[in-house]
Amino acid sequence: MTTLYEVHGSVALITLSNPPVNGLGHATRLSITDNLQKANDDDAVKSIVITGAGKAFSGGADIKEFGSPKALQEPNLLSVIVAIEKSPKPVVAAIHSVCMGGGLELALGCHYRIAAPGCSVALPEVKLGLLPGAGGTQRLPRALGVEPALNMIVSGEPVKSEMLAQIPGQKLFDKLSSSPDTLAEEAFAFAQAIAETRPLPLVRDLPCKHRNGDAYFQFARNMVKGMAKNFPAPLKCVDAVEAATRQKFEDGMRIERELFTNLMFTPESRALRHVFMAERAASKIPDVPADTAQRAINSIAVIGAGTMGGGIAMNFLNAGIPVKMLEMKQDALDRGIATMRKNYESQVKKGKLKQDKYEERMGLLSTTLSYDDLKDADMVIEAVFEEMGVKEKVFTELDRVMKPGAILASNTSTLDLNQIASFTKRPEDVVGLHFFSPANIMKLLEVVRGDKTAKYVMATVMAVAKKIRKTAVVSGVCDGFIGNRMIEQYGRQGGFLLDEGCTPAQVDKAIEKFGFAMGPFRMGDLAGNDIGWAIRKRRYQEKPDMKYSKTADLLCEKGRFGQKTGAGWYDYVAGKRDAIPNQEVVSMIEAHRNSLGITPRKISDDEIVQRLVYSLVNEAAHILEEGIASKASDIDMVYLMGYGFPLYRGGPMLYADQVGLFNVVQAMNRFAKNPLDDASFWQPAPLLARLAAEGKTFN
Ligand code: 3HC
Ligand code: NAI
Repeated sequence: MTTLYEVHGSVALITLSNPPVNGLGHATRLSITDNLQKANDDDAVKSIVITGAGKAFSGGADIKEFGSPKALQEPNLLSVIVAIEKSPKPVVAAIHSVCMGGGLELALGCHYRIAAPGCSVALPEVKLGLLPGAGGTQRLPRALGVEPALNMIVSGEPVKSEMLAQIPGQKLFDKLSSSPDTLAEEAFAFAQAIAETRPLPLVRDLPCKHRNGDAYFQFARNMVKGMAKNFPAPLKCVDAVEAATRQKFEDGMRIERELFTNLMFTPESRALRHVFMAERAASKIPDVPADTAQRAINSIAVIGAGTMGGGIAMNFLNAGIPVKMLEMKQDALDRGIATMRKNYESQVKKGKLKQDKYEERMGLLSTTLSYDDLKDADMVIEAVFEEMGVKEKVFTELDRVMKPGAILASNTSTLDLNQIASFTKRPEDVVGLHFFSPANIMKLLEVVRGDKTAKYVMATVMAVAKKIRKTAVVSGVCDGFIGNRMIEQYGRQGGFLLDEGCTPAQVDKAIEKFGFAMGPFRMGDLAGNDIGWAIRKRRYQEKPDMKYSKTADLLCEKGRFGQKTGAGWYDYVAGKRDAIPNQEVVSMIEAHRNSLGITPRKISDDEIVQRLVYSLVNEAAHILEEGIASKASDIDMVYLMGYGFPLYRGGPMLYADQVGLFNVVQAMNRFAKNPLDDASFWQPAPLLARLAAEGKTFN
């Protein structure tokens, strides 16, 4: 049963009961109208209360139904709301915890609303690339006032019920209960008190005008245009709310429906809905059940106070978890702490952090030079130099001192986690936690599962990741894990493009126009070109037959390591991040091209984008097939959260799906014929070839 029905005296209670968040899927909608009918047919019932069981009134329409016929199957949400409005007996919404999207729209169709304090109220459809499609754009401005309603609709951000109740003249809530615990009791009393009131008030009948509509909506459009960038939905929200102020209710509803339906089929909405699901799916590991026992993590130790160690520590301090930091020497500790302080102080200066919170966080940090001081920590994260010998020393010590059951994590970005685990007598407790730089900012965390990592360790670190607000994606052990393994192929393509006729600026511009935050050459300059150089030197030994452009090596031989040396593919002015093209670099590329006897050709932006993106896709298909990633959507999350892939395209795998895998493979076959490229790389991964042949998709 997706709703429960009870009668208490003269009040019928309909409780949405569709865990986890009482999504308004078809079965629930049907059950609401059935029970509404039952209440109206029962002479003993004088009024009706609708509420939600568990942790929400309702999280809105069932997102999983979108795109399927079920979403439209009668009764659709619009019909349910009309049925409530037409109910001859008064219907009171008793709102608590979470009231979002279609849930709020349903409440707005009720004759009365009583809300518990602390309830998160939102119309978050815009975050899914949509606008409210069940009357939210027409009823909320009537109930709340045009400006506060438009702010909520365009931002999608939740607002607390008690804040909304304070808006002068608001008709959203008829009453705020004195506490969440008394909501049910107060809703019953309210329902009894208004049982005989007629006519029943309807939000749709409220006036909706803006005194200075022309100027206000012009201003709103200008604001929204700047913020919305590649997303069409926010501007459509303005159109819909403006319609509420200028059209009759029914006409406004028609306009809303048309805009909603059109948005539903945009690639941007598809991408955002995919991301919503992908983010939640990433936290689930196929063979680790949700009820796997976890270990309590109440204290952390961090080894190494360098670039990564400091950022990693800040994540835990921010979450209120004490951290003990270990270094080899006091001055390294002092430097690390000073950097953390500088980071926090800059947040305080920008008004993003209160002084007392900063002090509270630093108060949770302690330091040591002795491993014996770490023994009581529930989890230790190592972030020392990237050398197997150093990792061996550290993990041998950790194995000696850490209490039984402690989780031993490594932040290694390239080394074999299984080998690191083998330095201990408890490889089941060893896991990789690959943070991205700056570790206190970047959302992505690759959780590297070793061959022997225990399930409870995986369950625990996934929960810890949530606590520190990271998007955790599980990766198996391989060189580069998911993200860096793919980026290596993308970087290689970047090199071939230079050899064939592009400049770094042309490549960067093309892929930035596609939507990437940064092209491969600006990214190299930011990360440090020496890092890629070190990896390539290793590759030349391991895979002597692998084809590489030599331009990046020539650049590094000139000491142009990127922003940190003030010069890389571009020049940089101290204190600024603007990339200024450098003629010497362009001449270096030309000279190298000449030395190879290559006649440069003009390469289109389309070709640049396809070669870069499909190189990611093909490597990703190998990763998926090898089981390094368990789902295509996990790979999308890695690229969206850690590598600046455009959100509105939903990640490389969803993008490839949208282009059509057959078309991707056709393009790859073309690239394979280019003698200056690497034909063997462009052999479609078997999984990709199979899906393309069968007309299937990754996701
Ligand atoms: N439909 C289907 N499933 C939903 C859902 C929805 N609207 N909202 C949440 N869920 C599911 C999640 O997928 C997740 O499932 P899982 O356990 O299988 O992974 C589960 O509920 C819990 O979600 P969270 O992990 O996000 O739980 P939180 O407690 O952190 O947050 C929440 C709860 C605030 C409701 C959050 O899930 C949320 O913001 N949901 C989206 C709300 C939304 O966008 N609603 C609008 C839908 S569109 C609409 O209503 C159209 C209408 O205008 C016609
Ligand atoms: P770093 O050089 O900035 O810091 C390393 C710190 O470890 C130094 O302060 C050093 O004194 C300390 N250290 C070295 N040996 C030690 C030992 N035996 N005991 C205690 N402390 C010791 O290096 P960074 O960049 O912080 O990298 C650390 C780890 O994080 C490496 O494994 C690296 O591959 C990984 N990583 C780095 C990223 C980056 O962008 N810098 C991104 C993701 C992972």
